Amino acid sequence: MNPQTAIIPDHAKAGVFIEADIRIGQTEAVKAACRDSVARLQALQAKFPQAALGLTVAFGSEAWHIFGHAGEGREIKPFTPLGNGLAPATQQDVLIHIQALQQDAALALAQAVLAAFGDSLTVVTEEHGYRLYQERGLDGFVDGTENPQDQAVREVAVIPEGQPDAGGSYVLLQKYRHDLKRWGKVDVPHQESCIGRTKETDEELDKSVRLPDSHLGRVDLKENGVGLKIVRRSLPYGKITGEHGLMFIAYCHTLHNIEAQLLSMFGETDGKTDLLLKHISTAVSGAYYYAPPVERLAAL
Ligand code: HEM
Repeated sequence: MNPQTAIIPDHAKAGVFIEADIRIGQTEAVKAACRDSVARLQALQAKFPQAALGLTVAFGSEAWHIFGHAGEGREIKPFTPLGNGLAPATQQDVLIHIQALQQDAALALAQAVLAAFGDSLTVVTEEHGYRLYQERGLDGFVDGTENPQDQAVREVAVIPEGQPDAGGSYVLLQKYRHDLKRWGKVDVPHQESCIGRTKETDEELDKSVRLPDSHLGRVDLKENGVGLKIVRRSLPYGKITGEHGLMFIAYCHTLHNIEAQLLSMFGETDGKTDLLLKHISTAVSGAYYYAPPVERLAAL
Protein backbone atom coordinates (compact mmCIF):
# COMPACT_ATOMS: atom_id res chain seq x y z
CA MET A 1 0.00 0.00 0.00
CA ASN A 2 1.35 3.42 -0.96
CA PRO A 3 1.17 6.59 1.13
CA GLN A 4 -0.58 9.56 -0.45
CA THR A 5 1.72 11.72 -2.52
CA ALA A 6 1.80 14.97 -0.51
CA ILE A 7 3.47 13.21 2.44
CA ILE A 8 6.95 12.07 1.40
CA PRO A 9 8.28 14.87 -0.92
CA ASP A 10 10.14 17.60 0.97
CA HIS A 11 11.01 21.23 0.08
CA ALA A 12 7.79 22.02 -1.80
CA LYS A 13 7.54 25.58 -3.09
CA ALA A 14 3.76 25.85 -3.04
CA GLY A 15 0.92 24.37 -1.04
CA VAL A 16 -2.87 24.44 -1.00
CA PHE A 17 -4.78 23.64 2.19
CA ILE A 18 -8.53 23.11 1.95
CA GLU A 19 -10.90 21.89 4.67
CA ALA A 20 -14.47 20.94 3.90
CA ASP A 21 -17.59 19.27 5.23
CA ILE A 22 -19.48 16.49 3.50
CA ARG A 23 -23.00 17.52 2.51
CA ILE A 24 -25.84 15.38 3.82
CA GLY A 25 -26.57 12.39 1.58
CA GLN A 26 -23.36 12.84 -0.43
CA THR A 27 -21.17 9.99 0.83
CA GLU A 28 -21.42 8.00 -2.41
CA ALA A 29 -20.52 11.11 -4.40
CA VAL A 30 -17.52 11.67 -2.10
CA LYS A 31 -16.31 8.11 -2.66
CA ALA A 32 -16.54 8.58 -6.44
CA ALA A 33 -14.75 11.93 -6.18
CA CYS A 34 -11.88 10.37 -4.21
CA ARG A 35 -11.42 7.82 -7.00
CA ASP A 36 -11.61 10.55 -9.60
CA SER A 37 -9.14 12.75 -7.68
CA VAL A 38 -6.49 10.03 -7.86
CA ALA A 39 -6.98 9.82 -11.66
CA ARG A 40 -6.85 13.62 -12.02
CA LEU A 41 -3.67 13.73 -9.92
CA GLN A 42 -2.01 11.16 -12.18
CA ALA A 43 -3.00 13.12 -15.31
CA LEU A 44 -1.49 16.34 -13.89
CA GLN A 45 1.64 14.55 -12.68
CA ALA A 46 2.15 13.49 -16.31
CA LYS A 47 1.56 17.06 -17.48
CA PHE A 48 3.97 18.59 -14.91
CA PRO A 49 6.70 15.92 -14.65
CA GLN A 50 9.15 18.21 -12.81
CA ALA A 51 6.71 19.46 -10.19
CA ALA A 52 6.74 16.61 -7.62
CA LEU A 53 3.00 17.21 -7.49
CA GLY A 54 1.35 15.58 -4.48
CA LEU A 55 -2.13 15.24 -3.04
CA THR A 56 -3.46 14.10 0.31
CA VAL A 57 -7.18 13.60 0.86
CA ALA A 58 -7.74 12.87 4.55
CA PHE A 59 -10.77 12.46 6.80
CA GLY A 60 -11.84 13.67 10.22
CA SER A 61 -12.96 10.95 12.64
CA GLU A 62 -16.69 11.32 11.99
CA ALA A 63 -16.23 11.01 8.24
CA TRP A 64 -13.68 8.22 8.57
CA HIS A 65 -16.14 6.17 10.62
CA ILE A 66 -18.37 6.12 7.51
CA PHE A 67 -15.59 5.05 5.13
CA GLY A 68 -13.06 3.10 7.21
CA HIS A 69 -13.04 -0.62 7.91
CA ALA A 70 -12.30 -2.03 11.36
CA GLY A 71 -8.67 -1.55 12.32
CA GLU A 72 -7.96 1.27 9.86
CA GLY A 73 -7.00 4.64 11.32
CA ARG A 74 -7.81 3.42 14.83
CA GLU A 75 -6.27 6.44 16.56
CA ILE A 76 -8.27 9.10 14.73
CA LYS A 77 -10.41 11.33 16.93
CA PRO A 78 -11.74 14.89 16.75
CA PHE A 79 -9.37 17.70 17.68
CA THR A 80 -10.37 19.23 21.03
CA PRO A 81 -9.28 22.64 22.38
CA LEU A 82 -6.06 22.80 24.40
CA GLY A 83 -4.52 25.22 26.88
CA ASN A 84 -7.78 26.87 28.01
CA GLY A 85 -8.64 27.76 24.42
CA LEU A 86 -5.09 28.79 23.36
CA ALA A 87 -5.46 26.10 20.71
CA PRO A 88 -9.02 26.21 19.32
CA ALA A 89 -10.64 23.20 17.65
CA THR A 90 -12.05 23.65 14.14
CA GLN A 91 -12.52 20.04 13.09
CA GLN A 92 -13.96 19.44 9.60
CA ASP A 93 -14.73 16.24 7.66
CA VAL A 94 -12.21 16.42 4.82
CA LEU A 95 -8.72 17.83 4.32
CA ILE A 96 -7.32 18.35 0.84
CA HIS A 97 -3.56 19.04 1.03
CA ILE A 98 -1.65 19.72 -2.16
CA GLN A 99 2.04 20.48 -2.46
CA ALA A 100 4.41 20.90 -5.38
CA LEU A 101 7.64 22.46 -6.56
CA GLN A 102 5.56 24.61 -8.93
CA GLN A 103 2.63 26.80 -7.96
CA ASP A 104 0.99 26.41 -11.38
CA ALA A 105 0.82 22.64 -10.92
CA ALA A 106 -0.49 22.94 -7.34
CA LEU A 107 -3.28 25.30 -8.38
CA ALA A 108 -4.22 23.20 -11.42
CA LEU A 109 -4.60 20.20 -9.13
CA ALA A 110 -6.66 22.18 -6.61
CA GLN A 111 -9.07 23.18 -9.36
CA ALA A 112 -9.25 19.64 -10.72
CA VAL A 113 -9.85 18.03 -7.31
CA LEU A 114 -12.50 20.56 -6.28
CA ALA A 115 -14.24 20.01 -9.61
CA ALA A 116 -14.24 16.26 -8.91
CA PHE A 117 -15.92 16.80 -5.52
CA GLY A 118 -18.38 19.32 -6.99
CA ASP A 119 -21.36 19.89 -4.69
CA SER A 120 -20.61 16.92 -2.45
CA LEU A 121 -18.49 19.17 -0.17
CA THR A 122 -18.95 22.54 1.48
CA VAL A 123 -15.53 24.18 1.55
CA VAL A 124 -14.91 25.85 4.92
CA THR A 125 -11.30 27.06 4.64
CA GLU A 126 -8.78 27.52 1.84
CA GLU A 127 -5.22 28.83 2.21
CA HIS A 128 -2.28 28.95 -0.16
CA GLY A 129 1.23 28.40 1.17
CA TYR A 130 4.47 29.65 -0.38
CA ARG A 131 8.17 29.17 0.23
CA LEU A 132 10.48 31.94 1.42
CA TYR A 133 14.24 32.04 0.80
CA GLN A 134 16.34 29.40 2.62
CA GLU A 135 13.07 27.78 3.72
CA ARG A 136 12.61 30.40 6.43
CA GLY A 137 9.32 31.18 8.10
CA LEU A 138 7.93 34.73 8.21
CA ASP A 139 9.53 34.84 11.70
CA GLY A 140 12.95 34.74 9.99
CA PHE A 141 14.03 31.29 11.28
CA VAL A 142 14.76 28.31 9.03
CA ASP A 143 11.86 25.85 9.35
CA GLY A 144 12.13 22.12 8.74
CA THR A 145 15.82 21.55 9.54
CA GLU A 146 15.26 18.64 11.92
CA ASN A 147 12.64 16.98 9.76
CA PRO A 148 13.35 13.28 9.19
CA GLN A 149 15.30 12.67 5.95
CA ASP A 150 15.58 9.86 3.37
CA GLN A 151 14.27 6.51 4.59
CA ALA A 152 13.29 7.97 7.94
CA VAL A 153 10.55 10.07 6.29
CA ARG A 154 8.47 7.01 5.50
CA GLU A 155 9.30 5.32 8.79
CA VAL A 156 8.05 8.33 10.75
CA ALA A 157 5.14 9.45 8.58
CA VAL A 158 3.57 6.21 7.37
CA ILE A 159 1.93 3.27 9.18
CA PRO A 160 4.22 0.26 8.58
CA GLU A 161 3.50 -2.97 6.69
CA GLY A 162 1.82 -5.67 8.70
CA GLN A 163 -0.93 -3.38 10.03
CA PRO A 164 -4.46 -3.33 8.54
CA ASP A 165 -3.92 0.35 7.64
CA ALA A 166 -0.34 0.07 6.36
CA GLY A 167 0.42 3.06 4.10
CA GLY A 168 -1.93 5.35 6.05
CA SER A 169 -0.91 8.43 8.01
CA TYR A 170 -2.30 10.75 10.69
CA VAL A 171 -2.34 14.48 9.98
CA LEU A 172 -2.54 17.66 12.04
CA LEU A 173 -3.45 20.89 10.27
CA GLN A 174 -3.16 23.99 12.43
CA LYS A 175 -3.15 27.57 11.22
CA TYR A 176 -0.94 29.97 13.17
CA ARG A 177 -1.37 33.73 12.79
CA HIS A 178 1.82 35.70 13.45
CA ASP A 179 2.19 39.15 15.01
CA LEU A 180 5.47 40.21 13.43
CA LYS A 181 5.39 43.67 15.01
CA ARG A 182 5.41 42.05 18.42
CA TRP A 183 8.14 39.60 17.34
CA GLY A 184 10.23 42.49 16.00
CA LYS A 185 10.35 44.01 19.49
CA VAL A 186 12.05 40.86 20.82
CA ASP A 187 15.83 41.13 20.31
CA VAL A 188 17.48 38.41 18.23
CA PRO A 189 19.28 36.64 21.12
CA HIS A 190 15.95 36.34 22.94
CA GLN A 191 14.19 35.20 19.76
CA GLU A 192 16.87 32.52 19.49
CA SER A 193 16.28 31.36 23.05
CA CYS A 194 12.50 31.27 22.35
CA ILE A 195 13.08 28.92 19.40
CA GLY A 196 16.13 27.02 20.63
CA ARG A 197 18.21 27.61 17.47
CA THR A 198 20.27 30.49 16.11
CA LYS A 199 18.56 32.72 13.58
CA GLU A 200 21.13 33.48 10.88
CA THR A 201 23.09 30.22 11.00
CA ASP A 202 20.30 27.83 12.10
CA GLU A 203 22.37 26.02 14.72
CA GLU A 204 20.79 24.19 17.63
CA LEU A 205 21.44 25.80 21.01
CA ASP A 206 23.01 23.45 23.52
CA LYS A 207 20.42 21.72 25.67
CA SER A 208 22.13 23.20 28.76
CA VAL A 209 21.28 26.77 27.66
CA ARG A 210 17.95 26.06 26.00
CA LEU A 211 14.90 27.38 27.87
CA PRO A 212 12.43 24.70 28.99
CA ASP A 213 9.61 26.71 27.40
CA SER A 214 11.52 27.36 24.15
CA HIS A 215 9.90 25.81 21.08
CA LEU A 216 12.51 23.03 20.92
CA GLY A 217 12.20 22.55 24.67
CA ARG A 218 8.49 21.86 24.10
CA VAL A 219 8.57 19.66 21.00
CA ASP A 220 11.91 17.81 21.04
CA LEU A 221 10.49 15.03 23.23
CA LYS A 222 11.58 11.57 24.25
CA GLU A 223 9.47 8.77 25.68
CA ASN A 224 11.30 5.85 27.32
CA GLY A 225 14.49 7.09 25.65
CA VAL A 226 12.96 7.14 22.15
CA GLY A 227 12.52 10.44 20.25
CA LEU A 228 8.90 11.25 19.30
CA LYS A 229 9.32 12.18 15.64
CA ILE A 230 6.88 13.71 13.15
CA VAL A 231 7.21 14.85 9.52
CA ARG A 232 6.37 18.53 8.95
CA ARG A 233 5.28 19.90 5.57
CA SER A 234 4.30 23.41 6.78
CA LEU A 235 4.46 26.55 4.65
CA PRO A 236 4.09 30.28 5.31
CA TYR A 237 0.79 31.84 4.15
CA GLY A 238 -0.84 35.24 3.82
CA LYS A 239 0.02 38.81 2.91
CA ILE A 240 3.05 40.90 3.74
CA THR A 241 0.86 43.72 5.09
CA GLY A 242 -2.27 41.79 6.09
CA GLU A 243 -2.92 38.56 7.95
CA HIS A 244 -0.06 36.06 7.70
CA GLY A 245 1.59 33.17 9.50
CA LEU A 246 2.27 29.47 9.19
CA MET A 247 0.07 26.69 7.86
CA PHE A 248 1.43 24.01 10.17
CA ILE A 249 0.90 20.50 8.82
CA ALA A 250 2.45 17.33 10.18
CA TYR A 251 2.18 13.67 9.27
CA CYS A 252 2.91 10.70 11.49
CA HIS A 253 2.38 6.94 11.69
CA THR A 254 0.83 7.54 15.10
CA LEU A 255 -1.34 10.40 16.28
CA HIS A 256 0.29 9.97 19.66
CA ASN A 257 3.55 11.74 18.70
CA ILE A 258 1.76 14.76 17.25
CA GLU A 259 -0.54 15.03 20.24
CA ALA A 260 2.29 14.70 22.76
CA GLN A 261 4.07 17.70 21.18
CA LEU A 262 0.87 19.76 21.13
CA LEU A 263 0.05 19.00 24.76
CA SER A 264 3.58 20.05 25.68
CA MET A 265 3.38 23.31 23.64
CA PHE A 266 0.02 24.33 25.09
CA GLY A 267 0.84 23.80 28.77
CA GLU A 268 -1.10 20.57 29.19
CA THR A 269 1.81 18.50 30.52
CA ASP A 270 3.72 20.67 33.02
CA GLY A 271 1.95 24.04 32.84
CA LYS A 272 4.70 25.52 30.62
CA THR A 273 3.52 27.15 27.38
CA ASP A 274 5.66 27.51 24.25
CA LEU A 275 7.32 30.95 24.10
CA LEU A 276 6.30 31.21 20.43
CA LEU A 277 2.71 31.53 21.67
CA LYS A 278 3.69 34.38 23.97
CA HIS A 279 5.80 36.40 21.53
CA ILE A 280 4.60 35.84 17.98
CA SER A 281 1.96 33.29 17.20
CA THR A 282 -1.70 32.50 17.86
CA ALA A 283 -3.27 29.21 16.85
CA VAL A 284 -6.50 30.00 14.99
CA SER A 285 -7.49 26.52 13.80
CA GLY A 286 -6.81 22.90 14.65
CA ALA A 287 -7.97 19.59 13.23
CA TYR A 288 -6.85 15.95 13.04
CA TYR A 289 -7.31 13.81 9.94
CA TYR A 290 -6.51 10.28 8.80
CA ALA A 291 -5.02 9.89 5.32
CA PRO A 292 -5.67 6.35 4.00
CA PRO A 293 -3.17 4.88 1.53
CA VAL A 294 -3.71 5.78 -2.15
CA GLU A 295 -5.18 2.36 -2.99
CA ARG A 296 -7.82 2.70 -0.23
CA LEU A 297 -8.64 6.29 -1.25
CA ALA A 298 -9.34 5.02 -4.75
CA ALA A 299 -11.59 2.22 -3.42
CA LEU A 300 -13.41 3.62 -0.40
C1 HEM B 1 3.86 29.05 15.18
C2 HEM B 1 4.03 27.80 14.88
C3 HEM B 1 5.38 27.18 14.72
C4 HEM B 1 6.55 27.74 14.32
C5 HEM B 1 6.81 29.19 13.88
C6 HEM B 1 7.55 26.71 14.36
C7 HEM B 1 8.88 26.90 14.02
C8 HEM B 1 9.87 25.96 14.17
C9 HEM B 1 11.28 26.20 13.96
C10 HEM B 1 11.88 27.52 13.49
C11 HEM B 1 11.94 25.03 14.23
C12 HEM B 1 13.46 24.79 14.17
C13 HEM B 1 13.95 24.27 12.86
C14 HEM B 1 13.45 22.91 12.49
O1 HEM B 1 13.98 21.88 12.93
O2 HEM B 1 12.47 22.87 11.76
C15 HEM B 1 10.94 24.06 14.61
C16 HEM B 1 11.20 22.75 14.95
C17 HEM B 1 10.25 21.83 15.28
N1 HEM B 1 8.91 22.05 15.41
FE1 HEM B 1 7.95 23.80 15.15
N2 HEM B 1 6.97 25.55 14.76
C18 HEM B 1 5.65 25.79 15.00
C19 HEM B 1 4.70 24.87 15.44
C20 HEM B 1 4.96 23.55 15.72
C21 HEM B 1 3.96 22.59 16.13
C22 HEM B 1 2.48 22.87 16.32
C23 HEM B 1 4.62 21.39 16.30
C24 HEM B 1 4.10 20.05 16.73
C25 HEM B 1 2.84 19.72 16.88
C26 HEM B 1 6.01 21.61 15.98
C27 HEM B 1 6.98 20.64 15.98
C28 HEM B 1 8.32 20.86 15.73
C29 HEM B 1 9.33 19.80 15.80
C30 HEM B 1 9.10 18.34 16.09
C31 HEM B 1 10.56 20.42 15.52
C32 HEM B 1 11.94 19.76 15.49
C33 HEM B 1 12.45 19.62 16.89
C34 HEM B 1 13.83 18.98 16.94
O3 HEM B 1 13.87 17.75 16.97
O4 HEM B 1 14.81 19.70 16.90
N3 HEM B 1 6.18 22.93 15.63
N4 HEM B 1 9.70 24.65 14.58
